[in-house]
Amino acid sequence: MKKIITIIGARPQIIKSSAISRAIKNSFSHILDEIIVHTGQHYDENMSEVFFTEMNIPLPKYNLKVGSSSHANQTSEIMKGIEEILISEEANGILIYGDTNSTLAGAIAASKIHIPVFHVEAGLRSFNKSMPEEINRIMSDHVSTLLFCPTETALRNLKNEGISLSHTQKASIDTPHVYLCGDIMLDNSLYFSKLSDENSTILSELNLEKNNFILVTIHRNANTDDKTNLNSIFTALIQIQKETNLDIVLPLHPRTKKMMAEYLDETIIIELEKSKKIKIIPPVGFLDIISLEKNSKLIITDSGGMQKEAFFFQKPCVILRPETEWIEIVENGNAILANADEQKIVESTLILLNKTDFTYPELYGDGKGADFILTKISEYCQIN
Ligand code: UD1
Ligand code: UDP
Repeated sequence: MKKIITIIGARPQIIKSSAISRAIKNSFSHILDEIIVHTGQHYDENMSEVFFTEMNIPLPKYNLKVGSSSHANQTSEIMKGIEEILISEEANGILIYGDTNSTLAGAIAASKIHIPVFHVEAGLRSFNKSMPEEINRIMSDHVSTLLFCPTETALRNLKNEGISLSHTQKASIDTPHVYLCGDIMLDNSLYFSKLSDENSTILSELNLEKNNFILVTIHRNANTDDKTNLNSIFTALIQIQKETNLDIVLPLHPRTKKMMAEYLDETIIIELEKSKKIKIIPPVGFLDIISLEKNSKLIITDSGGMQKEAFFFQKPCVILRPETEWIEIVENGNAILANADEQKIVESTLILLNKTDFTYPELYGDGKGADFILTKISEYCQIN
């Protein structure tokens, strides 16, 4: 039996990990023993616990409870906690997801004590190092032993950074093996879609009509921590609501809630409070967000996960960022990059609402990424 330590901390990692934990339980539990470490980067009930309950994710054996703080503080606290666990558990490998501070902390802590790092969602790049996530991704990829890329683009990015795609040498930190495995979030969207249909009551709770509302999420620091950008995005949302008469639903990330109180102009706050059609609600669980995604007319977001889920559920998407790691959906005409530009957000929304000739090629694999990843990790662990 080989022991794998899985690091989760932020909402999207908890969600992603369910695909892997489910696949371990179904097909790999005779080979792999998964120990889950929650760093505590996200800690509100609706940013963490709700997912364990409704997605049936095994409870973490450890919770480092690091909470919120500056980048260096948070990352170093997580590193210290993870190092201790890796040593005491005598782990055979560490599994990290995505690009958060929890990801980077896991990568550094493990690689320095010669524990192989398996990175799921490797190779994604925005080519914008003002994003903390871009630094986290690059650093994590370059100390990994197995790199699992969700897209062809990600694979190419690693090649361009000098990482060989050949598997002629044994996988190691110096000669990592790169794999194209598809997006494990597709595994999850497919798996939880039916459960969402059966269990979510969010549409009736919010009095929403199918295909008659826009779903919005905002949380990137470039949008929340910049007064001009935050005001520009909300001005655009108010204008879109008036022009389209569609309802707008915004499950609010705690970061955004905090910064709205600090930065939003009084006139915008009054407009939002006055509007019955702009529904700002607390973050919702995965079954509810799937229901909102599937039944929306369009999605406006700066979230990486939501951009792809828009594509999975065949909804057009306005991306509140200047660039995206998921460039395929923009190139294929399913999404438009609008940044935090008020005019561009409104225009892009109207363009996509009127467009009809969308196509949905298989850009993100076949929904069986978790099994592929675990097969490769098992093979690696058996020979090392
Ligand atoms: C983090 C990740 C980001 C990811 C996002 C997913 C980093 C650098 N950023 O961003 O890549 O897309 O998670 O949601 O790792 N807060 C709460 N309750 C919580 C969690 C956060 O109130 O449970 C508030 C705190 O005020 C905190 C702020 O949100 O300071 C930001 O949290 P943090 O985890 O630092 O970054 P995110 O913006 O959530
Ligand atoms: N999500 C959720 N509830 C919400 C908002 C988002 O469950 O209220 C899910 C969403 O479906 C996606 C993931 O959270 O799977 C994305 O997380 P987030 O936007 O926080 O981070 P990112 O993907 O940008 O790193």
